[in-house]
Amino acid sequence: MCGIVGYVGPRVVTPLLIEGLKRLEYRGYDSAGIAVMNGKGVETRKVAGKISRLETVVKDSPLTGTLGIAHTRWATHGAPNQVNAHPHLDEKHEIAVVHNGIIENASVLRRTLEEHGHVFTSDTDTEVLVHLIEAAFEDSLEDAVIDALRQVEGAYGIAVVSSRDPNKIVAARKGSPLLVGLGDGEYYVASDASAILAHTREVVYMHDGDLAVLDRHGYRIIDLNSTTLTRGVSKIDWDLAQIERGGFAHFMLKEIFEQPQTVSSTIAGRLLLDQATAKLSGTNLTEEELLAIDNVVITACGTSWHSGLIGEHMLEELARIPVEVEYASEFRYRNPIVTERTLCIVISQSGETADTLAAMREAQRRGARTLGIVNVVGSTIAREAAAGIYLHAGPEIGVASTKAFTSQVVALALLTLKLGRLREVSALRGTEIIEALQALPSQIQQILDRHHEIEALAEEFKRAQNFLYLGRGYNFPTALEGALKLKEISYIHAEGYPAAEMKHGPIALIDELMPVVFIAPHDSVFDKVASNVQEVKARNGRVIAITSREEPSLAGKIDYEFRIPETIDMLTPVLAAIPLQLLAYYIAVKRGSNVDQPRNLAKSVTVE
Ligand code: F6R
Repeated sequence: MCGIVGYVGPRVVTPLLIEGLKRLEYRGYDSAGIAVMNGKGVETRKVAGKISRLETVVKDSPLTGTLGIAHTRWATHGAPNQVNAHPHLDEKHEIAVVHNGIIENASVLRRTLEEHGHVFTSDTDTEVLVHLIEAAFEDSLEDAVIDALRQVEGAYGIAVVSSRDPNKIVAARKGSPLLVGLGDGEYYVASDASAILAHTREVVYMHDGDLAVLDRHGYRIIDLNSTTLTRGVSKIDWDLAQIERGGFAHFMLKEIFEQPQTVSSTIAGRLLLDQATAKLSGTNLTEEELLAIDNVVITACGTSWHSGLIGEHMLEELARIPVEVEYASEFRYRNPIVTERTLCIVISQSGETADTLAAMREAQRRGARTLGIVNVVGSTIAREAAAGIYLHAGPEIGVASTKAFTSQVVALALLTLKLGRLREVSALRGTEIIEALQALPSQIQQILDRHHEIEALAEEFKRAQNFLYLGRGYNFPTALEGALKLKEISYIHAEGYPAAEMKHGPIALIDELMPVVFIAPHDSVFDKVASNVQEVKARNGRVIAITSREEPSLAGKIDYEFRIPETIDMLTPVLAAIPLQLLAYYIAVKRGSNVDQPRNLAKSVTVE
């Protein structure tokens, strides 16, 4: 959601912070601000809107200093205006706080603080923190922060500076990611490694309940009792090119085009050809334990939930294990039936989604084994899950998830292969799955090479007001994903449905203005889908079909066809997703949307 970056060291801080914010802008982009210790006190600049506006303000009215903190916001409490932008200050402008997350008891605390004479200037929950720190301040910033944090409920990742203890940054984390970057005689704090990757790859991931105290001479991690903690140093294995656009107009397009490599990385080193199975070293489960699993619960949000639905289909078909797929936000507040023999698969690109993390913790509390399918290495879900499969898809910066989706489906296919081979899947079938997985990267490339066809289709449909996406079996979730991609970046209303379910209501929407995208590869349900195509055509709908071979039954029934290569049923979503991602992308660009920063959205939803 929001992004935090801070720096202390010998260098002039403002350009470093602006650069860090730019790299974090994909996480939130409705307002931004910066606070610098200028030798006399705390000086701030804040703007509503994008980082580029903050950059202009800072150019016109420079800030000088070598210690500072900065923030890019995705509003939760209060409108996205200059007043509500972070950093927030106390009345005397001695303390500045940037905050990601939500303080849940903010209104109660605010009332008490106001009764004690504190004057608030913004509508944010964050401002409560700064007044609590002010009230608790004696001589050490970290002690005041600890005192304040003891009073708050909710989630936070914060960075704080003060002219009363001017040489340090105090950062704290509970439920919102934060890390310390270790440079050469300089230290950083950031909510996401991409903010500081240009300067260092050595990081210390903070855990919930940790505080970090940074100055020019080093850093300390302590807990809320001021006890010093030891946390290991990790090395980030991405490079700068991976978080830059590399000649593409948008991160989303770059990430769509990366999929031959990212799918290949998800598979790399994980196929055991001679045994016709997959090797997943992170699963930490013996064969006996895997065989003892009674049921699987998959929990996730958004696109990751869609890949979970595909996983459900795979695991039930091949591993013959009962699977339920739950929205993490619902799962966490139900009374789910989960036992020690349940495997809870938690899918998250970022590894930080608040609902998914909470759902995983709930499953753990109930005794389930948890397995994270995560992209971001070192993220909270990756660290807290009992077992894991990393996607190895590299950083996903585009707010609309693309390459993570295809890698998630591939990771689930690998898991299915492994579990399936332990149960009912023959070596012959296992080999067939392996060959199909190995073929994916070049098949994706073949689709990408024809991106102009989809661009032309986008031109045709860019003015549509609504879209329906229909599919069955493995491609019902693909329909959901295609619709989500379109709506989130083009703002066209789009719905995904199981193709046959259309007759139970949505068919009423079909007329000559309604484009209907059918995901209709030649799989076991193709004939059924073909009948649904007829039903749409009979009502003058405009049919776009993603097919995989010439289909006589569709002759004269479809207006536009895009053919994808053939693969086994369970992997058809990986190939079908590519033209749907491209269609959403090109329509959005042609409608003038900001594809990488769609309105109201942010990457990594770290609030409930
Ligand atoms: C859609 C999208 C979101 C995320 C969802 C879960 O394009 O990106 O729906 O899939 O917020 O995020 P992760 O996978 O990071 O848990």
